[in-house]
Amino acid sequence: MKYLITSALPYINGVKHLGNIIGSLLPADVYSRFLKQQDLEVLFICGTDEHGTPAEIAAKDEGLEVAIYCEKMYLKQKDIYEKFAIDFDYFGRSSAASNHQITKEIFNSLDKNGFILEEKLKQFYSVDDRRYLPDRYVTGSCPHCKYDKARGDQCDLCGKLLDPLDLVNPKSAISGSSNLEVKTVSHLFLALDKLEEKVRAWIQEKEASWPVYSVSVAKKWLNEGLQPRCISRDLDWGISIPKPGYEDKVFYVWFDAPMAYIAITQDWARDVAKNNDAWKKWWCEDLANTQYAQFMAKDNLPFHGVMWPAMLLGADANKWKTVDCLKGFHWLTYEGGKFSTSLKRGIFSDVAIELFPADYWRYYLLANIPESHDSDFRLDDFVTTINKDLVGVLGNFVNRVAALLDKYFEGKVPDYDVNNEHVKKLFEHCHPFAKNIEEDYFGLNFRSLMRNLRELWCFGNEFITVAEPWKLVKSDKKEAGNVLAACLHLIRLYAIASYPVIPASAMKMLNYLELSKESTKEKFKLAESVVFDYLKPGEKLGNIELLFEKITPEKNLELQEMFSSIS
Ligand code: MF3
Ligand code: ZN
Repeated sequence: MKYLITSALPYINGVKHLGNIIGSLLPADVYSRFLKQQDLEVLFICGTDEHGTPAEIAAKDEGLEVAIYCEKMYLKQKDIYEKFAIDFDYFGRSSAASNHQITKEIFNSLDKNGFILEEKLKQFYSVDDRRYLPDRYVTGSCPHCKYDKARGDQCDLCGKLLDPLDLVNPKSAISGSSNLEVKTVSHLFLALDKLEEKVRAWIQEKEASWPVYSVSVAKKWLNEGLQPRCISRDLDWGISIPKPGYEDKVFYVWFDAPMAYIAITQDWARDVAKNNDAWKKWWCEDLANTQYAQFMAKDNLPFHGVMWPAMLLGADANKWKTVDCLKGFHWLTYEGGKFSTSLKRGIFSDVAIELFPADYWRYYLLANIPESHDSDFRLDDFVTTINKDLVGVLGNFVNRVAALLDKYFEGKVPDYDVNNEHVKKLFEHCHPFAKNIEEDYFGLNFRSLMRNLRELWCFGNEFITVAEPWKLVKSDKKEAGNVLAACLHLIRLYAIASYPVIPASAMKMLNYLELSKESTKEKFKLAESVVFDYLKPGEKLGNIELLFEKITPEKNLELQEMFSSIS
Protein backbone atom coordinates (compact mmCIF):
# COMPACT_ATOMS: atom_id res chain seq x y z
CA MET A 1 0.00 0.00 0.00
CA LYS A 2 1.18 3.51 -0.76
CA TYR A 3 -0.26 6.71 0.68
CA LEU A 4 -1.29 9.82 -1.21
CA ILE A 5 -2.05 12.86 0.96
CA THR A 6 -3.35 16.23 -0.14
CA SER A 7 -4.18 19.28 1.92
CA ALA A 8 -6.71 21.80 0.56
CA LEU A 9 -4.83 24.33 -1.55
CA PRO A 10 -4.70 27.64 0.35
CA TYR A 11 -5.95 30.68 -1.56
CA ILE A 12 -3.18 32.90 -2.81
CA ASN A 13 -4.79 36.13 -1.60
CA GLY A 14 -3.00 36.79 1.64
CA VAL A 15 -1.09 35.16 4.48
CA LYS A 16 -3.12 32.44 6.18
CA HIS A 17 -4.23 32.64 9.82
CA LEU A 18 -3.79 29.95 12.45
CA GLY A 19 -7.29 28.63 11.74
CA ASN A 20 -6.20 27.84 8.18
CA ILE A 21 -3.04 26.16 9.43
CA ILE A 22 -4.86 23.76 11.74
CA GLY A 23 -7.81 23.32 9.36
CA SER A 24 -5.88 21.22 6.84
CA LEU A 25 -2.12 21.81 6.46
CA LEU A 26 -0.94 20.79 9.91
CA PRO A 27 -2.98 17.59 10.43
CA ALA A 28 -2.01 16.49 6.91
CA ASP A 29 1.65 17.04 7.78
CA VAL A 30 1.35 15.04 11.00
CA TYR A 31 -0.17 12.15 9.08
CA SER A 32 2.48 12.32 6.37
CA ARG A 33 5.35 12.50 8.86
CA PHE A 34 3.97 9.57 10.81
CA LEU A 35 3.57 7.35 7.76
CA LYS A 36 7.05 8.22 6.50
CA GLN A 37 8.45 7.47 9.90
CA GLN A 38 6.90 3.99 9.62
CA ASP A 39 8.89 3.61 6.41
CA LEU A 40 5.79 3.58 4.21
CA GLU A 41 5.65 5.05 0.73
CA VAL A 42 4.02 8.47 0.99
CA LEU A 43 3.43 11.46 -1.26
CA PHE A 44 2.24 14.71 0.35
CA ILE A 45 1.05 17.31 -2.15
CA CYS A 46 -0.15 20.89 -1.74
CA GLY A 47 0.15 24.29 -3.38
CA THR A 48 -1.49 27.67 -3.79
CA ASP A 49 -4.95 28.12 -5.30
CA GLU A 50 -4.32 31.11 -7.53
CA HIS A 51 -7.24 31.83 -9.80
CA GLY A 52 -10.57 33.58 -9.32
CA THR A 53 -11.73 37.09 -8.52
CA PRO A 54 -10.19 37.25 -5.00
CA ALA A 55 -6.72 36.91 -6.52
CA GLU A 56 -7.43 39.60 -9.11
CA ILE A 57 -8.84 41.93 -6.49
CA ALA A 58 -5.99 41.37 -4.01
CA ALA A 59 -3.46 42.08 -6.78
CA LYS A 60 -5.28 45.25 -7.75
CA ASP A 61 -5.29 46.40 -4.11
CA GLU A 62 -1.52 46.06 -4.04
CA GLY A 63 -1.14 47.69 -7.43
CA LEU A 64 0.51 44.61 -8.92
CA GLU A 65 -0.17 42.54 -11.99
CA VAL A 66 -1.93 39.35 -10.98
CA ALA A 67 0.87 37.08 -12.15
CA ILE A 68 3.44 39.09 -10.19
CA TYR A 69 1.26 39.24 -7.12
CA CYS A 70 0.73 35.46 -7.22
CA GLU A 71 4.44 34.76 -7.62
CA LYS A 72 5.19 36.93 -4.62
CA MET A 73 2.49 35.42 -2.41
CA TYR A 74 3.36 31.90 -3.48
CA LEU A 75 6.95 32.37 -2.29
CA LYS A 76 5.78 34.01 0.89
CA GLN A 77 3.33 31.25 1.78
CA LYS A 78 5.84 28.55 0.87
CA ASP A 79 8.39 30.11 3.18
CA ILE A 80 5.94 30.33 6.09
CA TYR A 81 4.93 26.68 5.76
CA GLU A 82 8.58 25.66 5.77
CA LYS A 83 9.01 27.57 9.00
CA PHE A 84 6.02 25.72 10.46
CA ALA A 85 7.88 22.52 9.52
CA ILE A 86 5.13 21.46 7.15
CA ASP A 87 7.05 19.02 5.08
CA PHE A 88 5.36 18.75 1.68
CA ASP A 89 6.89 16.55 -0.94
CA TYR A 90 5.95 19.34 -3.30
CA PHE A 91 4.31 22.70 -2.83
CA GLY A 92 3.16 23.81 -6.26
CA ARG A 93 0.79 26.28 -7.90
CA SER A 94 -2.61 25.91 -9.52
CA SER A 95 -1.49 28.43 -12.15
CA ALA A 96 1.30 26.18 -13.42
CA ALA A 97 1.35 25.05 -17.06
CA SER A 98 0.65 21.49 -15.95
CA ASN A 99 -2.69 22.56 -14.51
CA HIS A 100 -3.68 24.42 -17.67
CA GLN A 101 -3.10 21.23 -19.57
CA ILE A 102 -4.84 18.73 -17.30
CA THR A 103 -7.82 21.02 -16.66
CA LYS A 104 -8.39 21.37 -20.39
CA GLU A 105 -7.95 17.66 -20.91
CA ILE A 106 -10.54 16.77 -18.28
CA PHE A 107 -12.90 19.44 -19.58
CA ASN A 108 -12.62 17.98 -23.09
CA SER A 109 -13.44 14.49 -21.81
CA LEU A 110 -16.44 15.83 -19.91
CA ASP A 111 -17.58 17.67 -23.03
CA LYS A 112 -17.12 14.60 -25.22
CA ASN A 113 -19.12 12.52 -22.73
CA GLY A 114 -22.01 14.97 -22.83
CA PHE A 115 -21.63 16.51 -19.38
CA ILE A 116 -21.04 20.10 -20.52
CA LEU A 117 -24.04 22.29 -21.37
CA GLU A 118 -24.32 25.73 -22.91
CA GLU A 119 -26.86 28.12 -21.46
CA LYS A 120 -27.70 31.76 -21.88
CA LEU A 121 -27.41 34.06 -18.90
CA LYS A 122 -28.19 37.72 -18.38
CA GLN A 123 -25.12 39.58 -17.26
CA PHE A 124 -23.84 43.10 -16.74
CA TYR A 125 -21.55 44.61 -19.33
CA SER A 126 -19.62 47.66 -18.19
CA VAL A 127 -19.40 50.15 -21.03
CA ASP A 128 -16.61 52.15 -19.42
CA ASP A 129 -14.51 49.12 -18.45
CA ARG A 130 -15.27 47.50 -21.81
CA ARG A 131 -15.83 44.11 -20.21
CA TYR A 132 -18.41 41.77 -18.72
CA LEU A 133 -18.53 41.82 -14.96
CA PRO A 134 -18.43 38.54 -13.02
CA ASP A 135 -20.63 38.66 -9.91
CA ARG A 136 -18.05 39.93 -7.43
CA TYR A 137 -17.19 42.76 -9.79
CA VAL A 138 -20.57 44.35 -9.30
CA THR A 139 -21.48 46.26 -6.14
CA GLY A 140 -24.64 48.03 -5.09
CA SER A 141 -27.35 48.12 -2.45
CA CYS A 142 -28.71 44.89 -1.06
CA PRO A 143 -32.37 44.43 -2.09
CA HIS A 144 -33.06 42.77 1.27
CA CYS A 145 -31.37 44.91 3.92
CA LYS A 146 -30.37 47.97 1.83
CA TYR A 147 -26.71 47.67 2.85
CA ASP A 148 -25.00 49.87 0.26
CA LYS A 149 -21.79 47.86 -0.19
CA ALA A 150 -23.29 44.52 -1.12
CA ARG A 151 -21.34 42.41 -3.62
CA GLY A 152 -22.90 40.74 -6.62
CA ASP A 153 -22.60 37.26 -5.13
CA GLN A 154 -23.50 37.96 -1.52
CA CYS A 155 -24.45 40.67 0.95
CA ASP A 156 -21.88 40.87 3.75
CA LEU A 157 -24.37 42.46 6.12
CA CYS A 158 -27.40 40.18 5.96
CA GLY A 159 -25.52 37.23 4.47
CA LYS A 160 -28.04 36.53 1.70
CA LEU A 161 -26.78 35.09 -1.56
CA LEU A 162 -27.44 37.48 -4.42
CA ASP A 163 -27.51 37.65 -8.17
CA PRO A 164 -25.78 40.81 -9.45
CA LEU A 165 -28.97 41.69 -11.33
CA ASP A 166 -30.83 41.98 -7.99
CA LEU A 167 -28.62 44.83 -6.74
CA VAL A 168 -30.13 48.28 -6.45
CA ASN A 169 -27.93 50.99 -8.09
CA PRO A 170 -25.39 48.50 -9.44
CA LYS A 171 -21.87 49.74 -10.17
CA SER A 172 -18.68 48.28 -11.54
CA ALA A 173 -16.30 47.38 -8.71
CA ILE A 174 -13.42 48.07 -11.07
CA SER A 175 -14.10 51.65 -12.14
CA GLY A 176 -17.11 52.56 -10.01
CA SER A 177 -19.00 53.33 -13.20
CA SER A 178 -22.76 52.81 -13.20
CA ASN A 179 -22.90 52.82 -16.98
CA LEU A 180 -23.87 49.14 -17.17
CA GLU A 181 -25.87 47.27 -19.76
CA VAL A 182 -27.61 43.96 -19.29
CA LYS A 183 -26.67 41.55 -22.07
CA THR A 184 -27.47 37.94 -22.78
CA VAL A 185 -24.33 35.78 -22.89
CA SER A 186 -23.57 32.09 -23.34
CA HIS A 187 -21.93 30.25 -20.45
CA LEU A 188 -20.82 26.69 -19.86
CA PHE A 189 -22.35 24.46 -17.24
CA LEU A 190 -21.24 21.20 -15.73
CA ALA A 191 -24.26 18.89 -15.81
CA LEU A 192 -24.00 17.73 -12.21
CA ASP A 193 -27.60 16.53 -12.39
CA LYS A 194 -26.58 13.93 -14.98
CA LEU A 195 -23.67 12.82 -12.79
CA GLU A 196 -25.68 12.43 -9.62
CA GLU A 197 -26.20 8.68 -9.88
CA LYS A 198 -22.53 8.01 -10.57
CA VAL A 199 -21.57 10.05 -7.52
CA ARG A 200 -24.16 8.33 -5.36
CA ALA A 201 -22.82 4.88 -6.27
CA TRP A 202 -19.27 6.07 -5.73
CA ILE A 203 -20.02 7.45 -2.25
CA GLN A 204 -21.68 4.20 -1.30
CA GLU A 205 -18.50 2.39 -2.19
CA LYS A 206 -16.28 4.78 -0.25
CA GLU A 207 -18.23 5.89 2.77
CA ALA A 208 -17.13 3.12 5.10
CA SER A 209 -13.67 4.69 5.23
CA TRP A 210 -14.83 8.32 5.60
CA PRO A 211 -15.49 10.00 8.94
CA VAL A 212 -19.27 10.13 9.53
CA TYR A 213 -19.38 13.89 9.35
CA SER A 214 -17.95 13.93 5.83
CA VAL A 215 -20.44 11.30 4.73
CA SER A 216 -23.33 13.31 6.11
CA VAL A 217 -22.24 16.51 4.34
CA ALA A 218 -21.80 14.72 1.02
CA LYS A 219 -25.16 12.95 1.31
CA LYS A 220 -26.94 16.13 2.26
CA TRP A 221 -25.76 17.69 -1.00
CA LEU A 222 -26.78 14.68 -3.01
CA ASN A 223 -30.18 14.48 -1.41
CA GLU A 224 -30.91 18.10 -2.16
CA GLY A 225 -30.43 17.17 -5.81
CA LEU A 226 -27.46 18.31 -7.87
CA GLN A 227 -27.98 21.26 -10.23
CA PRO A 228 -25.96 22.18 -13.31
CA ARG A 229 -23.20 24.54 -12.24
CA CYS A 230 -21.70 27.40 -14.23
CA ILE A 231 -17.99 26.78 -14.87
CA SER A 232 -17.08 29.78 -17.06
CA ARG A 233 -16.15 33.28 -15.91
CA ASP A 234 -15.39 36.61 -17.56
CA LEU A 235 -11.89 37.11 -16.26
CA ASP A 236 -8.48 37.43 -17.87
CA TRP A 237 -6.59 35.58 -15.15
CA GLY A 238 -7.26 31.86 -15.19
CA ILE A 239 -7.27 28.86 -17.47
CA SER A 240 -8.71 29.55 -20.89
CA ILE A 241 -11.59 27.47 -22.16
CA PRO A 242 -10.77 25.32 -25.19
CA LYS A 243 -14.11 25.75 -26.92
CA PRO A 244 -15.07 28.03 -29.81
CA GLY A 245 -17.06 31.03 -28.63
CA TYR A 246 -15.44 31.06 -25.17
CA GLU A 247 -12.10 32.59 -26.06
CA ASP A 248 -12.67 35.55 -23.74
CA LYS A 249 -13.57 33.45 -20.73
CA VAL A 250 -11.70 31.30 -18.25
CA PHE A 251 -12.73 28.38 -16.04
CA TYR A 252 -14.36 29.05 -12.72
CA VAL A 253 -11.65 28.71 -10.06
CA TRP A 254 -13.31 25.73 -8.41
CA PHE A 255 -13.18 23.84 -11.70
CA ASP A 256 -9.41 24.03 -12.00
CA ALA A 257 -8.30 24.12 -8.34
CA PRO A 258 -8.78 20.44 -7.45
CA MET A 259 -7.27 19.41 -10.79
CA ALA A 260 -4.12 21.05 -9.47
CA TYR A 261 -3.63 18.16 -7.05
CA ILE A 262 -2.90 16.08 -10.12
CA ALA A 263 -0.97 18.83 -11.89
CA ILE A 264 1.22 19.50 -8.86
CA THR A 265 2.01 15.79 -8.69
CA GLN A 266 3.15 16.06 -12.32
CA ASP A 267 5.41 18.92 -11.35
CA TRP A 268 6.76 16.85 -8.48
CA ALA A 269 7.45 14.04 -10.96
CA ARG A 270 9.38 16.40 -13.23
CA ASP A 271 11.32 18.28 -10.52
CA VAL A 272 11.77 15.80 -7.69
CA ALA A 273 11.31 12.26 -8.99
CA LYS A 274 13.05 13.32 -12.23
CA ASN A 275 10.76 11.04 -14.14
CA ASN A 276 7.91 12.65 -16.03
CA ASP A 277 5.74 9.56 -15.69
CA ALA A 278 6.17 9.12 -11.94
CA TRP A 279 2.90 10.92 -11.21
CA LYS A 280 0.87 8.23 -12.93
CA LYS A 281 1.39 5.60 -10.31
CA TRP A 282 -0.32 7.95 -7.83
CA TRP A 283 -3.27 9.00 -9.95
CA CYS A 284 -4.00 6.49 -12.65
CA GLU A 285 -2.22 3.21 -12.15
CA ASP A 286 -2.55 0.54 -9.52
CA LEU A 287 -5.48 2.42 -7.96
CA ALA A 288 -6.36 -0.27 -5.42
CA ASN A 289 -2.92 -0.09 -3.83
CA THR A 290 -3.05 3.63 -3.17
CA GLN A 291 -4.73 4.96 -0.07
CA TYR A 292 -5.72 8.58 -0.73
CA ALA A 293 -6.49 10.92 2.19
CA GLN A 294 -7.62 14.52 1.77
CA PHE A 295 -7.53 17.13 4.54
CA MET A 296 -9.71 20.24 4.49
CA ALA A 297 -11.97 22.56 6.44
CA LYS A 298 -15.66 21.73 6.43
CA ASP A 299 -16.67 24.33 3.85
CA ASN A 300 -14.55 22.40 1.34
CA LEU A 301 -16.28 19.07 1.91
CA PRO A 302 -18.97 19.44 -0.79
CA PHE A 303 -16.37 20.24 -3.43
CA HIS A 304 -14.13 17.34 -2.50
CA GLY A 305 -16.86 14.86 -1.63
CA VAL A 306 -19.24 15.58 -4.51
CA MET A 307 -18.18 18.04 -7.24
CA TRP A 308 -14.62 17.01 -7.93
CA PRO A 309 -15.38 13.28 -7.87
CA ALA A 310 -18.28 14.05 -10.23
CA MET A 311 -15.84 15.70 -12.66
CA LEU A 312 -13.38 12.82 -12.53
CA LEU A 313 -16.08 10.18 -12.84
CA GLY A 314 -17.68 12.05 -15.70
CA ALA A 315 -14.37 12.43 -17.51
CA ASP A 316 -13.36 8.80 -17.19
CA ALA A 317 -15.04 6.54 -14.66
CA ASN A 318 -12.13 4.14 -14.31
CA LYS A 319 -9.09 6.23 -14.87
CA TRP A 320 -8.62 8.45 -11.87
CA LYS A 321 -7.75 7.85 -8.26
CA THR A 322 -10.48 9.27 -6.03
CA VAL A 323 -10.38 9.98 -2.33
CA ASP A 324 -10.48 7.10 0.18
CA CYS A 325 -10.54 9.14 3.36
CA LEU A 326 -12.11 12.59 3.37
CA LYS A 327 -11.06 14.28 6.60
CA GLY A 328 -12.90 17.55 7.22
CA PHE A 329 -12.38 19.88 10.16
CA HIS A 330 -14.64 22.36 11.89
CA TRP A 331 -13.67 25.97 12.58
CA LEU A 332 -11.05 27.26 14.93
CA THR A 333 -12.41 30.48 16.41
CA TYR A 334 -10.29 33.27 17.83
CA GLU A 335 -11.08 34.44 21.37
CA GLY A 336 -14.71 33.47 20.94
CA GLY A 337 -15.23 35.09 17.50
CA LYS A 338 -14.28 34.37 13.91
CA PHE A 339 -10.80 34.43 12.48
CA SER A 340 -11.12 36.70 9.47
CA THR A 341 -8.65 37.35 6.70
CA SER A 342 -10.56 40.29 5.26
CA LEU A 343 -11.00 41.95 8.66
CA LYS A 344 -7.46 40.95 9.75
CA ARG A 345 -8.91 39.41 12.88
CA GLY A 346 -6.85 36.75 14.66
CA ILE A 347 -3.21 35.68 14.67
CA PHE A 348 -1.66 35.18 11.26
CA SER A 349 0.95 32.59 10.43
CA ASP A 350 3.70 35.08 9.50
CA VAL A 351 3.40 36.92 12.82
CA ALA A 352 3.02 33.74 14.88
CA ILE A 353 6.16 32.09 13.56
CA GLU A 354 8.32 35.09 14.45
CA LEU A 355 7.08 34.92 18.05
CA PHE A 356 7.63 31.27 18.97
CA PRO A 357 9.18 28.16 17.45
CA ALA A 358 6.93 26.05 15.23
CA ASP A 359 6.61 23.24 17.78
CA TYR A 360 4.84 25.55 20.26
CA TRP A 361 2.16 26.40 17.72
CA ARG A 362 1.95 22.88 16.37
CA TYR A 363 1.46 21.45 19.82
CA TYR A 364 -1.18 23.93 20.95
CA LEU A 365 -3.10 23.91 17.68
CA LEU A 366 -3.15 20.12 17.49
CA ALA A 367 -4.16 19.80 21.13
CA ASN A 368 -7.11 22.09 20.32
CA ILE A 369 -7.89 20.88 16.84
CA PRO A 370 -11.54 21.48 15.83
CA GLU A 371 -12.01 17.83 15.07
CA SER A 372 -15.58 17.00 15.99
CA HIS A 373 -16.79 20.54 16.69
CA ASP A 374 -15.52 24.13 16.55
CA SER A 375 -12.85 25.01 19.09
CA ASP A 376 -11.45 28.27 20.35
CA PHE A 377 -7.93 29.71 20.21
CA ARG A 378 -7.23 31.69 23.36
CA LEU A 379 -3.95 33.45 23.88
CA ASP A 380 -3.95 32.98 27.67
CA ASP A 381 -4.70 29.29 27.18
CA PHE A 382 -1.86 29.03 24.66
CA VAL A 383 0.58 30.45 27.22
CA THR A 384 -0.72 28.20 30.00
CA THR A 385 -0.61 25.09 27.82
CA ILE A 386 2.94 25.69 26.60
CA ASN A 387 4.18 26.35 30.12
CA LYS A 388 2.36 23.36 31.56
CA ASP A 389 2.67 20.64 28.95
CA LEU A 390 5.78 21.43 26.97
CA VAL A 391 7.91 23.17 29.62
CA GLY A 392 6.51 21.65 32.80
CA VAL A 393 5.91 18.08 31.71
CA LEU A 394 8.01 17.05 28.72
CA GLY A 395 10.87 19.54 28.95
CA ASN A 396 11.14 19.16 32.68
CA PHE A 397 11.39 15.39 32.56
CA VAL A 398 14.12 15.42 29.93
CA ASN A 399 16.06 18.06 31.83
CA ARG A 400 15.86 16.22 35.13
CA VAL A 401 17.14 13.02 33.60
CA ALA A 402 19.95 14.76 31.74
CA ALA A 403 21.01 16.72 34.82
CA LEU A 404 21.19 13.60 36.99
CA LEU A 405 23.19 11.71 34.40
CA ASP A 406 25.60 14.62 34.06
CA LYS A 407 26.05 14.88 37.76
CA TYR A 408 26.40 11.23 38.71
CA PHE A 409 27.21 9.27 35.56
CA GLU A 410 29.56 11.57 33.60
CA GLY A 411 26.85 12.15 31.02
CA LYS A 412 26.98 8.52 29.90
CA VAL A 413 24.41 5.77 29.55
CA PRO A 414 24.70 3.97 32.91
CA ASP A 415 25.29 0.26 33.28
CA TYR A 416 21.93 -1.35 33.61
CA ASP A 417 20.24 -4.68 33.94
CA VAL A 418 17.35 -4.85 31.53
CA ASN A 419 15.45 -7.39 33.65
CA ASN A 420 14.79 -5.01 36.49
CA GLU A 421 11.48 -4.08 38.10
CA HIS A 422 11.44 -0.54 36.74
CA VAL A 423 11.67 -1.70 33.20
CA LYS A 424 8.86 -4.16 33.73
CA LYS A 425 6.65 -1.44 35.15
CA LEU A 426 7.45 0.97 32.34
CA PHE A 427 6.89 -1.61 29.66
CA GLU A 428 3.50 -2.59 31.05
CA HIS A 429 2.46 1.01 31.18
CA CYS A 430 3.88 2.21 27.89
CA HIS A 431 3.13 -0.67 25.61
CA PRO A 432 -0.66 -0.15 25.45
CA PHE A 433 -0.11 3.61 25.09
CA ALA A 434 2.16 3.19 22.13
CA LYS A 435 -0.41 0.91 20.52
CA ASN A 436 -3.18 3.45 21.07
CA ILE A 437 -1.03 6.26 19.76
CA GLU A 438 -0.24 4.24 16.67
CA GLU A 439 -3.94 3.63 16.12
CA ASP A 440 -4.67 7.32 16.60
CA TYR A 441 -2.14 8.23 13.94
CA PHE A 442 -3.36 5.68 11.44
CA GLY A 443 -6.99 6.45 12.23
CA LEU A 444 -6.54 10.25 12.14
CA ASN A 445 -7.94 10.68 15.64
CA PHE A 446 -6.06 13.82 16.53
CA ARG A 447 -7.76 14.72 19.79
CA SER A 448 -7.25 11.26 21.16
CA LEU A 449 -3.66 11.24 19.89
CA MET A 450 -2.84 14.44 21.73
CA ARG A 451 -4.44 13.24 24.97
CA ASN A 452 -2.50 10.01 24.81
CA LEU A 453 0.79 11.74 24.08
CA ARG A 454 0.36 14.08 26.98
CA GLU A 455 -0.50 11.28 29.37
CA LEU A 456 2.48 9.32 28.22
CA TRP A 457 4.72 12.32 28.91
CA CYS A 458 3.20 12.80 32.37
CA PHE A 459 4.11 9.29 33.23
CA GLY A 460 7.85 10.04 33.13
CA ASN A 461 7.67 12.64 35.89
CA GLU A 462 5.53 10.37 38.04
CA PHE A 463 7.94 7.53 37.54
CA ILE A 464 11.04 9.47 38.44
CA THR A 465 9.35 11.11 41.44
CA VAL A 466 8.51 7.71 42.87
CA ALA A 467 11.83 6.04 42.02
CA GLU A 468 13.93 8.95 43.39
CA PRO A 469 17.20 8.19 41.61
CA TRP A 470 18.81 11.27 43.25
CA LYS A 471 18.50 9.43 46.58
CA LEU A 472 19.35 6.03 45.17
CA VAL A 473 22.74 7.19 43.86
CA LYS A 474 23.83 7.53 47.43
CA SER A 475 22.60 4.15 48.69
CA ASP A 476 22.53 1.95 45.61
CA LYS A 477 24.22 3.42 42.58
CA LYS A 478 23.55 0.38 40.41
CA GLU A 479 19.83 0.72 41.05
CA ALA A 480 20.00 4.44 40.27
CA GLY A 481 21.62 3.48 36.99
CA ASN A 482 18.75 1.12 36.24
CA VAL A 483 16.23 3.88 36.84
CA LEU A 484 18.03 6.46 34.72
CA ALA A 485 18.68 4.05 31.87
CA ALA A 486 14.96 3.27 31.86
CA CYS A 487 14.30 7.05 31.73
CA LEU A 488 16.60 7.43 28.74
CA HIS A 489 14.63 4.80 26.90
CA LEU A 490 11.48 6.63 27.85
CA ILE A 491 12.91 9.77 26.26
CA ARG A 492 13.53 7.74 23.13
CA LEU A 493 9.93 6.59 23.12
CA TYR A 494 8.73 10.18 23.64
CA ALA A 495 10.83 11.41 20.75
CA ILE A 496 9.57 8.74 18.39
CA ALA A 497 5.92 8.97 19.41
CA SER A 498 5.91 12.79 19.34
CA TYR A 499 8.00 13.33 16.24
CA PRO A 500 5.10 13.97 13.82
CA VAL A 501 3.66 16.58 16.18
CA ILE A 502 6.79 18.39 17.40
CA PRO A 503 9.49 17.33 14.95
CA ALA A 504 12.23 19.79 15.93
CA SER A 505 12.00 18.98 19.64
CA ALA A 506 11.86 15.27 18.94
CA MET A 507 15.05 15.54 16.92
CA LYS A 508 16.73 17.38 19.81
CA MET A 509 15.83 14.48 22.09
CA LEU A 510 17.20 11.97 19.61
CA ASN A 511 20.35 14.03 19.19
CA TYR A 512 20.79 13.95 22.93
CA LEU A 513 20.63 10.15 22.82
CA GLU A 514 22.96 10.44 19.83
CA LEU A 515 20.68 8.26 17.76
CA SER A 516 20.25 10.49 14.80
CA LYS A 517 23.76 9.88 13.58
CA GLU A 518 23.39 6.12 13.23
CA SER A 519 20.01 5.90 11.55
CA THR A 520 17.78 8.36 9.80
CA LYS A 521 14.68 9.57 11.55
CA GLU A 522 12.44 7.68 9.15
CA LYS A 523 13.68 4.42 10.59
CA PHE A 524 12.27 5.14 14.03
CA LYS A 525 9.11 3.12 13.89
CA LEU A 526 6.64 3.54 16.66
CA ALA A 527 6.02 -0.19 16.93
CA GLU A 528 9.69 -0.71 17.80
CA SER A 529 9.99 2.11 20.28
CA VAL A 530 8.86 0.47 23.53
CA VAL A 531 12.21 -1.15 24.01
CA PHE A 532 14.44 -0.82 27.06
CA ASP A 533 17.69 -2.39 25.93
CA TYR A 534 18.44 -0.20 22.96
CA LEU A 535 21.11 2.10 24.38
CA LYS A 536 24.65 0.93 24.97
CA PRO A 537 25.95 1.23 28.53
CA GLY A 538 28.93 3.54 28.76
CA GLU A 539 28.02 5.41 25.58
CA LYS A 540 28.49 9.16 25.84
CA LEU A 541 25.28 11.15 25.61
CA GLY A 542 25.09 14.34 23.59
CA ASN A 543 24.40 17.84 24.81
CA ILE A 544 20.82 18.43 25.68
CA GLU A 545 19.61 21.50 23.88
CA LEU A 546 16.96 23.44 25.73
CA LEU A 547 13.71 21.95 24.50
CA PHE A 548 11.20 24.60 25.49
CA GLU A 549 11.48 27.96 27.13
CA LYS A 550 8.93 29.12 29.63
CA ILE A 551 6.76 32.00 28.48
CA THR A 552 7.37 34.54 31.24
CA PRO A 553 4.67 36.77 32.75
CA GLU A 554 6.38 39.74 31.06
CA LYS A 555 6.26 38.07 27.67
CA ASN A 556 2.67 37.10 28.31
CA LEU A 557 1.77 40.73 29.01
CA GLU A 558 3.54 41.79 25.86
CA LEU A 559 1.52 39.26 23.87
CA GLN A 560 -1.75 40.33 25.40
CA GLU A 561 -0.95 43.90 24.48
CA MET A 562 0.18 43.04 21.01
CA PHE A 563 -3.09 41.32 20.19
CA SER A 564 -5.46 43.33 22.35
CA SER A 565 -6.50 45.62 19.52
CA ILE A 566 -8.02 42.62 17.75
CA SER A 567 -11.50 42.07 19.08
N1 MF3 B 1 -8.65 27.50 -1.84
C1 MF3 B 1 -9.70 26.75 -1.19
C2 MF3 B 1 -9.85 27.21 0.24
O1 MF3 B 1 -8.89 27.70 0.79
C3 MF3 B 1 -9.43 25.28 -1.22
C4 MF3 B 1 -9.25 24.73 -2.57
S1 MF3 B 1 -9.00 23.07 -2.48
C5 MF3 B 1 -8.88 22.58 -4.06
O2 MF3 B 1 -10.91 27.06 0.80
F1 MF3 B 1 -9.00 21.33 -4.11
F2 MF3 B 1 -9.78 23.08 -4.79
F3 MF3 B 1 -7.77 22.97 -4.52
ZN1 ZN C 1 -28.28 42.49 2.76
